[in-house]
Amino acid sequence: MSAQQAAALASAPEEPTSGIIDDETAVTPAVLSAMSHTPNPRLKEIMEALVRHAHAFAREVNITEEEFQYGVEFLNRIGKATNDKHNEGILFSDAIGFSTLICLLNNGQSSKGAERETAAALLGPFWRMNSPVTEHGGSLIRSPTPGPQLFANVRILDPHGKPIEGVEVDVWHSSPVGMYENQDPNQADMNLRGKFFTDAEGRFSFRSTKPAGYPVPTDGPVGDMLRAQERHCFRPAHLHFLCYKPGCKTLVTQVFVADDKYLHSDVVFGVTSALVGDYKLHAAGETAPAPDVEGDWYSFSYDLIMEPGEAKLPVPPIK
Ligand code: BEZ
Ligand code: FE
Repeated sequence: MSAQQAAALASAPEEPTSGIIDDETAVTPAVLSAMSHTPNPRLKEIMEALVRHAHAFAREVNITEEEFQYGVEFLNRIGKATNDKHNEGILFSDAIGFSTLICLLNNGQSSKGAERETAAALLGPFWRMNSPVTEHGGSLIRSPTPGPQLFANVRILDPHGKPIEGVEVDVWHSSPVGMYENQDPNQADMNLRGKFFTDAEGRFSFRSTKPAGYPVPTDGPVGDMLRAQERHCFRPAHLHFLCYKPGCKTLVTQVFVADDKYLHSDVVFGVTSALVGDYKLHAAGETAPAPDVEGDWYSFSYDLIMEPGEAKLPVPPIK
């Protein structure tokens, strides 16, 4: 016996008395009893609820052994499909609405102390750290990118409408061909990504192309699930924002294009009514904010509300 095994044996609590399983009804109490000495109270609460709900789920739908094996293999495939550039685990959570549920439980009116409809939404799998710092009015276009030009003006306010200065804001979006730069060898590194700092009026502004809707990756197990459910794989067009300032609760959000055909059927359930933005179409010929604009162009103005709270950055889903 190794020293590690001996130490584990010495610290093991007494065997539960209910460990011999007479029939299926004995399994759940036996597992709960075995976990009942968990010293960390939050871990105990989470694991007990997970066991109760997982067992109830298997009972409710009478999972067969073949279905169980398929489910385990499905989870294994999610792990194997995940790497530095792609997070299939988050995608699965997104596609079954779990990520949005967690987001709204922690940021919505049902979260502790919240007074208003939340401005928060999914981080998604494509946020990267260290986006290039860009001056106000600067462009996110770092390699030739088709599509109508977009001129964006954003303000960050506190819940009383007071501007917040010095917020560090990451902006990122997909190209009009429906891919983020990290998915597309034809785009420059960091294309359609930028970092801004709000001024004394809480403002920052930038130029880019109008975002387009795009498909989520479907070459892994999540794609198999969507096909089996006869669901489409598209997200409506949106801009992503991650707003960070010590003293403020970090705001991760997306603002959607109102006339997108997938607005009402986002494959990852990320659209809330507070986050449908006003992307205004301007006909070619209407004076644009820059002299080189050709054809129709868009303007976008939006106020993001940050609440007081803890500033913490999420773990980047990709490198
Ligand atoms: C995104 O908005 O970038 C995203 C969110 C969830 C799944 C795929 C993409
Ligand atoms: Fe996105």
